[in-house]
Amino acid sequence: MNGTIRAIELIERKRDGGKLSADEISALVLGYTVGDVPDYQMAAFCMAVVWRGMNAAETAALTAAMVRSGERLDLSRFGHVVDKHSTGGVGDKTTLVVAPLVAACGASVSKMSGRGLGFSGGTLDKLESIKGYRVDLTNAEFLAQLERIGIVVSGQTADLAPADGKMYALRDATGTIPAIPLIASSVMSKKIAAGADAVVLDVKVGSGAFMKDLRSARELARAMVAIGVAHGLDVTCELTDMEQPLGRAVGNSLEIAEAITALHGAGPADLAQLTRVAGAEMLVRARRVRDTKSGLARIDAAIASGAGFAKFRELVAAQGGDVSMVDDPTKLPRAPHVQTLRAPRTSYVAAIAADRVGIASVHLGAGREKKGEPIDHRTGIVLHAKVGDRVERGQPYADVHVAGKPADADAIAMVRDAFRWSARKVPPRRLILGRIASR
Ligand code: URA
Repeated sequence: MNGTIRAIELIERKRDGGKLSADEISALVLGYTVGDVPDYQMAAFCMAVVWRGMNAAETAALTAAMVRSGERLDLSRFGHVVDKHSTGGVGDKTTLVVAPLVAACGASVSKMSGRGLGFSGGTLDKLESIKGYRVDLTNAEFLAQLERIGIVVSGQTADLAPADGKMYALRDATGTIPAIPLIASSVMSKKIAAGADAVVLDVKVGSGAFMKDLRSARELARAMVAIGVAHGLDVTCELTDMEQPLGRAVGNSLEIAEAITALHGAGPADLAQLTRVAGAEMLVRARRVRDTKSGLARIDAAIASGAGFAKFRELVAAQGGDVSMVDDPTKLPRAPHVQTLRAPRTSYVAAIAADRVGIASVHLGAGREKKGEPIDHRTGIVLHAKVGDRVERGQPYADVHVAGKPADADAIAMVRDAFRWSARKVPPRRLILGRIASR
């Protein structure tokens, strides 16, 4: 990029609703990656995109530039490799269940996960509840493990799509996350650079997600499918409900324990449903089965035989984790106190605001408000009731696992406020809201 002047021109053009060429976008992104374009200009540019948007060609160019900013893994020797990604939600531990199940069915699962930010949890933080689990594999270690056991769940290495790493941190600090072209290019640049052939994306919709309504979730899904197709990547997006937390556990250790329960076939119904749907789709996309029906049967068999759990154990051992915690989840870090919330009267759960529960978990220390902050793996929330359940007066509806900090009282109040009650029967929420796929 030719000094500051050109960046200003591009920012101003986008601010005024104009279009940018692929070359201009590439120069801006690569200039930012190497430090020629400063943070304040990239932040201004992102804000202009939040307001003015980008068309499909601009979004494709932005993604391609972010991919070109770093290395691209070559996984061609592993056959048809499949990846899975969620746009982020509260209590979403699906990866921890579905990835080992799919790998146990013979597909290569290569998963680069992220950390939690704001009220949305992160798979890496959850896995780090297991003593010793390494999330910082090098590219060489990543490839060797994929070869050896057919599954890796690690962090994004700095050499893959570094422009996204830098831009995502900047967007997070400047209120510029919620723009469909920025989210779509951010997610897809990482997926393309990470080298899988197919990706199953879970686009969360609701108060606990970036996409608050189905219309914008569909738009995001279409944008990501279009980017995938342009880069030869097979993409399926499941649109799933995030108005209430997924499963019952929210918080790192608690979610690992719930994932293990689910691998044993005894997890909450919504987590089990999402695992089956995503797992079957991953098996179809990895060309391990002909259709969804056979995929579902294979996932069910991998749960029933214990093969999925055995693969999870193998994954944890391969990445240096303490397998005894997987065998006996009571050994996972545990909060010193549990505050039980009991129903004031007999009624039905009408709503559980996922964002409120997520924010409460951050207050408890289970999540971070700023990048790089330490977290407390022990704390979180366990919901004993979900939308549609009838709760008798005095019956527990949530346990709040607290470390004994001053912020605990606020967090407990927030969990209480997250629940809405009804004297009349309430139907359970629909979990799977739609599907958009490249084929
Ligand atoms: N997840 C990402 O990886 N990027 C975004 O911009 C939003 C969610």
